[in-house]
Order: sequence, then structure tokens, then C-alpha cells
Amino acid sequence: MSQPVNDAALNVLFREARTFNKWRPQPVTDEMLRTLYDLLKWAPTSANASPARFAFLRSTEAKERLRPALAPLNVEKTMTAPVTVIIAYDLKFYEHLPKLFPQNPGIAKLFESSPEMVETTAKRNSSLQGAYLIMAARALGLDCGPMSGFDNAKVDEEFFAAGQPCFGCDQEFFAEGHVKSNFLCNVGYGDPAGLFPRLPRLAFAEACSLL
Ligand SMILES: Cc1cc2nc3c(=O)[nH]c(=O)nc-3n(C[C@H](O)[C@H](O)[C@H](O)COP(=O)(O)O)c2cc1C
Repeated sequence: MSQPVNDAALNVLFREARTFNKWRPQPVTDEMLRTLYDLLKWAPTSANASPARFAFLRSTEAKERLRPALAPLNVEKTMTAPVTVIIAYDLKFYEHLPKLFPQNPGIAKLFESSPEMVETTAKRNSSLQGAYLIMAARALGLDCGPMSGFDNAKVDEEFFAAGQPCFGCDQEFFAEGHVKSNFLCNVGYGDPAGLFPRLPRLAFAEACSLL
């Protein structure tokens, strides 16, 4: 039977975790990014489909490719972050289902014939996987700054359009224009100097009902 994590872990993951805008100069290693993915990949997705794709931008060159797509208020924090992750989704995620969900051989065909179901499943589950990335990063002692203030079409054109080379990955699995951006997340070791005052959250009675 699983045990609840202790109070200190709950503070790290939720109560004391913040959205960071400034970064300490400590780098995030590629090994840490592999550890991050190897943790978040275990969290659940529907039919185990795992539609999220993660592009980790660490070099100045990669960040400069992103710059024109960023909302003005997101430029400085993104250009100074050790890593910016493009959390994207692969609209051909179902091609991996024979491996990821072998108990139902027909399910890939079902997706193939329903673009609407593909879109809904890819968006829902890549959003979940982006949230898993945030929680896994916090669990590993990293800080995050998620962002939706950017031009998705520009990012898709620059990083995921047909014929664009893959950047830094071993295989060209982004090469055919079927990967779309969902949101961005800066990752690093946060500088509390850039924090805004903590905002309130809805109380239980405002957000929940017991039926
Ligand atoms: C999906 C998502 C998109 C966000 N987009 C932006 C953004 O474009 N720019 C920004 O400065 N903050 C952005 N935020 C940050 C939120 O405003 C912040 O997480 C929220 O106010 C809670 O802050 P706290 O974690 O410090 O309590 C985004 C957060 C999420 C989860």
C-alpha cells in the first residue's frame, strides 16, 4: 500500500512552490533533463498514449529562434532561464499505440479515423503531461515558470513545420509537421527576488461540491 508523502514534500510540491520569473545562474544539466523526463513519463495518460513531446531549449541559438514568438512580458524571463521547454503534442501519437497499449490492437485504427478524437486526446493529455513536468521538476529541486503568452503558430512554424530539422534530438521525430505547441515552461533554479506576492486561491466551497 502506498504511503502519503510527508509535509515537507507537500510544501515543496504545492504550498511553497512558486512560479518563477528570475533565475539563479546555476545551470540545468542534460542529465537532469533526462532524469526529469524519466520521472514524468510514469504519470498517467489516456490509453497510455503519451502524446506530449518536449523540446528542451538550452542554447542561445535555440532561445533566439523562440524570441520572435514570445509575448513582450515573457521575453526577459525566457531568454535568461537555463532551459525553456516547449510542451507540444504529436497528432500522430496513435502510431505508438501498438507498443504503448498492446492489449487493444484496434485502438490505433479508431484514432486514425477520427481527427477530432485525436485532437482532443492530444491536447488533454499533453496538458496533463506538462503539469506532470512541473511537479516532477519541483520534486527534483528545480523551479518552473509556465507560459501561454506566445504565438503558437510561429513556434510551430519555427520548430515543428514540415521539413524543419530536429534540434538536438537523436531522431527527426519532429520532422513532418504533425507536432503542435501547447505551452512553454521555463525551468531552472529560481531567484526569489523576482517573485510577485502569492495570489489567493479559491476556497473549497467556491471550487468543489460534495455530491
Ligand atoms: C498554463 C499557464 C500559462 C501561464 N502563462 C503565463 C504567461 O504567459 N506569462 C506569465 O508571466 N505567467 C504565466 N503563467 C503564470 C501564472 O500566472 C502563475 O502560475 C499563477 O499566477 C500562480 O503563481 P504562483 O505559482 O507563484 O502562485 C502561466 C501559468 C500557467 C500554468
